[in-house]
Amino acid sequence: MASSFASYIIQFPLLLFLLVSFSGAADLPSFSNIVFDLDRDPLTLQYRIKINRGTPLAAVKLVLDFSGKLSGLYCNKGAYTSSSYQPINCRSPQCSLASKPVTCVSCNGTKTKNTWCHQNACSISTSNPITRLSDKGELISDVVYTESIYAFGNERYIRGPIDLRPISFGCATTSNFLKGLGESAKGVAGLGRSSRLSLVSQFSAAFPRFRHIFALDLSGLLIYFGGGPYIYSYGTFFGDLSKLFHYAPLLTNPKSIEEYFIDVKSIKIHGKTVPIDKKLLSINKTTGVGGTKVDILKAYTILETSIYKAFIRVHTKWAKGMNVSRVTPVAPFGACYKSSTIPPWTSKPGSVAFIFPKSEWRIVWRALVSVKNDAVRCLGFVNGGSKPMTSIVIGAHQLGWFMEFDTSKSRWGFLQPESGQQ
Ligand SMILES: *[C@@H]1O[C@H](CO)[C@@H](O)[C@H](O)[C@H]1NC(C)=O
Ligand SMILES: *[C@@H]1O[C@H](CO)[C@@H](O)[C@H](O)[C@H]1NC(C)=O
Ligand SMILES: *[C@@H]1O[C@H](CO)[C@@H](O)[C@H](O)[C@H]1NC(C)=O
Repeated sequence: MASSFASYIIQFPLLLFLLVSFSGAADLPSFSNIVFDLDRDPLTLQYRIKINRGTPLAAVKLVLDFSGKLSGLYCNKGAYTSSSYQPINCRSPQCSLASKPVTCVSCNGTKTKNTWCHQNACSISTSNPITRLSDKGELISDVVYTESIYAFGNERYIRGPIDLRPISFGCATTSNFLKGLGESAKGVAGLGRSSRLSLVSQFSAAFPRFRHIFALDLSGLLIYFGGGPYIYSYGTFFGDLSKLFHYAPLLTNPKSIEEYFIDVKSIKIHGKTVPIDKKLLSINKTTGVGGTKVDILKAYTILETSIYKAFIRVHTKWAKGMNVSRVTPVAPFGACYKSSTIPPWTSKPGSVAFIFPKSEWRIVWRALVSVKNDAVRCLGFVNGGSKPMTSIVIGAHQLGWFMEFDTSKSRWGFLQPESGQQ
């Protein structure tokens, strides 16, 4: 089992950039997206974007938040020093995007550039997606270092600098803001789909050809803004991965406009449809209840209780038919199997398919989670209770290695290897 798992890993795509650094963007070919590195906190499992901001440039890690309206940094005195830091005035147009009603910061005897309180700065409240607590702060602007991937001819791709761009952030002044964010994270990267201050909106507005898109490579740990091309080699394929995308509609929940909802119509396990009350799968436009969303801050996919129970029932029935031994479940999971009795990966042991109106998204090995040194594999889905706001929340473990959130065309792009191995 372990060896077939390992042979799967090496089939992951290899990125073909030459990581050459060069300075001066003047004689470079044009670019159509920007790219940043990601990392993952081993304890909280949160994905973080690594950006370089300020003058002099300083590296910070911000936890990805798909529902964030605005990115937030911790920037109390001493925690944030930068000569390009600018408080944004409360009478500026950005302030009215960030906070309603507009409130001006009032503070006494504060020198400028001390990075925590500025007379007449735009007062905002930053929100922490883990604790759900909000914190007072200021809207600020500072520069961010940007890079793209430049094509030289057809097969040579080089990652290199674009320039420094001013980006607006919320600046939280109490360390409460960092609670739950994991070690070394200094804030939150807001990737919300509607806010004009989310990173997606700010980067697409900053570059004329960019579309309102972000894409994640969770295997190579990269995040792209602005759209493709995404140049990869993958099996016999070399070129722009978006040529291989399958798409599902992205839906808007009128009660939760920053989040990314997808149009799941049903779920199949090894070809058997999981019996689900269809009402749970649609979004009630008045209350915002129901539907399916993608949330990378959730480690595993969360299912409303009746869906969860039906899901476990169909999967364990398949397992029984295959003589796979069930073992005592390991929390938070409800169905776990003895690994040595699970058939080889080629027979698609997890095989879960989310069915969209015109496509389907199959996950195989990511349906299972390996525990107890791989002696046990559990179905990596958890019970979300009987009255959750959203019926299905697709979490990080199931997401896969490459996906694109294209708000400009209201679609979610994903890869579906024909081998079915993913
Ligand atoms: C500013 O200082 C004055 C005089 O020291 C004081 O009366 C006032 O309450 C202070 N305002 C704020 C917002 O701290
Ligand atoms: C939406 O929820 C409200 C309140 O629970 C309910 O009255 C209404 O019938 C629901 N709408 C649909 C289309 O189910
Ligand atoms: C499961 O075990 C039974 C009894 O040993 C056997 O008859 C059956 O063929 C097995 N099924 C599979 C799928 O291996």
